[in-house]
Amino acid sequence: MSPARVPAPPPPARTARQLRETAGTSRRRKADADINPLRQGLRLDRVPDPCAFVLFGATGDLAHRKVIPAIYQLWRTNLLPAEFSLVAVARRPYSDETFAAEIRASLGKYSRVQPIDNAAWAELAKRITYQQLDFDDDGGFDRLAERLDALDEERGTAGNRLFYLATQPSQVTEIVRQIGRVGLDHEIRNAGWRRVVIEKPFGRDYESARHLNHEVNKVFHESQVYRIDHYLGKETVRNLMVFRFGNGIFEPVWNRSYVDHVQITVAESIGVESRGSFYEETGASRDILQNHLLQLVTLVAMEPPSSFNADALRDQKLQVLRAITPPNAERIRHDIVRGQYGPGWVQGEEAEGYRQEPEVDPESETETYVAGRFTIDDWRWSGVPFYLRAGKRLPKRATEIAVQFKEVPLPLFRESSGDPAPNVLAMRIQPDEGIMLRFAAKVPGLGLDVRTVNMDFDYGTSFAVDSPDAYETLILDGLLGDASLFTRADEVEAAWSVVTPMIEGWAAMPAPHFPNYAAGAWGPDAADELMARDGRRWRRI
Ligand code: BG6
Repeated sequence: MSPARVPAPPPPARTARQLRETAGTSRRRKADADINPLRQGLRLDRVPDPCAFVLFGATGDLAHRKVIPAIYQLWRTNLLPAEFSLVAVARRPYSDETFAAEIRASLGKYSRVQPIDNAAWAELAKRITYQQLDFDDDGGFDRLAERLDALDEERGTAGNRLFYLATQPSQVTEIVRQIGRVGLDHEIRNAGWRRVVIEKPFGRDYESARHLNHEVNKVFHESQVYRIDHYLGKETVRNLMVFRFGNGIFEPVWNRSYVDHVQITVAESIGVESRGSFYEETGASRDILQNHLLQLVTLVAMEPPSSFNADALRDQKLQVLRAITPPNAERIRHDIVRGQYGPGWVQGEEAEGYRQEPEVDPESETETYVAGRFTIDDWRWSGVPFYLRAGKRLPKRATEIAVQFKEVPLPLFRESSGDPAPNVLAMRIQPDEGIMLRFAAKVPGLGLDVRTVNMDFDYGTSFAVDSPDAYETLILDGLLGDASLFTRADEVEAAWSVVTPMIEGWAAMPAPHFPNYAAGAWGPDAADELMARDGRRWRRI
């Protein structure tokens, strides 16, 4: 029977375990805050409602590396309710026990906190069930619906269900259709909430994203849909909003009157690893630019929202995306650079070229690097270039947003032997998370030499605490019903409308002579030339 028609039991009062453990957590927090005053006032514990977490693609790489370790971590730190049930769904045959054993092994490899807390794991393992399911099998989905009803009775999951789709993108439409067919999407007053979390990539161009949104919205109301871009769950990315809107001194200079340009870099030292066939279809533009990079742009460039309510925030981000002028054929040629790595050396190790990677076409024209000059044509940013770059097999892993301010109006220190450079505010998203401000200072001594110095805030030393993984933040928010860090349908489409003309333009042009940068180099020469034409250069990170 469809759960929509079954009155769910009212959510149980907090259990003794929860009360006991919350008290324990508060005690720990207080102790931490006593030691380190910067930790005072950190986000308070909120425990989600009792619920079933239905994980599609539970045997896949993403589930094992990211989703399940995040659930374990939330469980271990008492952020999940006692009435929590993980229903793992995938095609392969497993019993509850064999699946739990496999997860335990993965936690040993991928959990960010080691060793595994056996007592916490034993409790979580009791709440894991496995259901074998072919996504096109109607009977299988009927059984899943029955099982979820049974869990409401046995485990007190109260009719609340979060469907997490960690599957191949091509399976999303079918799974959502089946969920709708058996009525698992229905939210009926007091019978529990229903939400669906969808992993990226969300579409592969503007049209396919629109189609996917249409199919998903046939079943789920937009307020039930949580599209993941894991960058939005990163601590330092969330801090961007605090930095901009929790401080009074930056906002007045955060505009075209003071900012010369903005550079955003997402550099990776890794290659495509075991994802050759996925990457062949994706490339750096779809994999990073359309989502992670453009999301960073929105947070840097948006107007202050009226609140951090999900829609207020996303409305402002959407305005930024809509103000980016999609590149036309001429701009694609002049302002956008694509690259592909050849063999080389990365961090002292020899690396193969992209075309030699497993599952990659030896004549592939897929880009592993993209850089471009974009403009946001609105009142605040008109005329300020945003230079974006992302690539694989670059010299190091580094994600950074750098806001470079204009030069002083009059170079009063031109006689100085130093060379004061314009102010830069660099926000290091990862690694070495922190914020750096570069400014001019007088060199001690009798003369008047001026040099640039850095003032640095370092997350690790200031807070002396490990940040949660982005997936922990996002999964918890999904369970709490807070969609502010998830992308809305119109946002995804607006981001695709920036990137799609570029991808289509490239398809109609002869590809550059690939490979055009060696593994371990900072991308192709053309990316440096792009900056040099504007009298600028990429920051050395
Ligand atoms: C993913 C991309 O979205 O982000 C990967 O598909 C990339 O290709 C990864 O490696 C980078 O994420 P992070 O968190 O390591 O910067």
